[in-house]
Amino acid sequence: MLAVIGGTGLSEMTGFESTGRKRLHTPFADRRVWVELLQYRNNTLAFLLRHGKNHVIPPHKVNYRANLWALHQLGVTQIVAVNAVGGIHESLAPGCFAIPDQIIDYTYGRSNTFFEEDLESVTHIDFTYPFTETLRQALLESVNAANKASSEPRLITDGGVYGCTQGPRLETAAEVSKLKRDGCDLLGMTAMPEAALARELGMDYAMLALSVNRAAGLFEGEIRMEDITAVVEDGMEFVVSVLQSLVQNQAGNGNN
Ligand code: HPA
Repeated sequence: MLAVIGGTGLSEMTGFESTGRKRLHTPFADRRVWVELLQYRNNTLAFLLRHGKNHVIPPHKVNYRANLWALHQLGVTQIVAVNAVGGIHESLAPGCFAIPDQIIDYTYGRSNTFFEEDLESVTHIDFTYPFTETLRQALLESVNAANKASSEPRLITDGGVYGCTQGPRLETAAEVSKLKRDGCDLLGMTAMPEAALARELGMDYAMLALSVNRAAGLFEGEIRMEDITAVVEDGMEFVVSVLQSLVQNQAGNGNN
């Protein structure tokens, strides 16, 4: 089954029919993890809100292990994360999309592995390519399909380096210039440890990133939350149409 992890802005999946909710217990949290089951044309999709139902859990407090464990328990084999990001690369103006292919992790203090206790031996996953290429390509095809059907096609960048910062504050201008020198094309706060935990559990993982602002210092002035909110709201219809196309294609490929 395919799952979508929704970040900032994607709190409701209009265009999908809700067919139930699961509250899953995991070894990593007292609180249960809520996962909604959605349908589109007889194709089922699991939907998890990364920041909780009311968007109250900040990026560094998300219980990534509980979330990923719950999806795995449900039988999820593929995850698409939908993330609002800050754009560094010039192709990532607000409103443009990217499907990144690399990550640099700048986070700290997050529980970032399932492999730390009761081990038979020390375990290292390969993480050369942090996103699953087949799922990335499927996502790219779905973006192209959504673009064909849309009166407002979106610019899409295939690939890019996602720099995962700790948050919850945004970066300073000097930090962004360093991150740019490091090779980051886009910035967000939640891909890590999410992507690595998905890999540890053997689940495919790819990301649809919506640029909601130019990263700090790359334009004159400051980043305004109301501008971000407007870009997110404007992009969500397109995101839903990408996901509708994806869920149909993945089901057709025997992944549902
Ligand atoms: N930096 C980090 N994370 C973000 C940004 C940003 O500029 N915009 C949205 N998420």
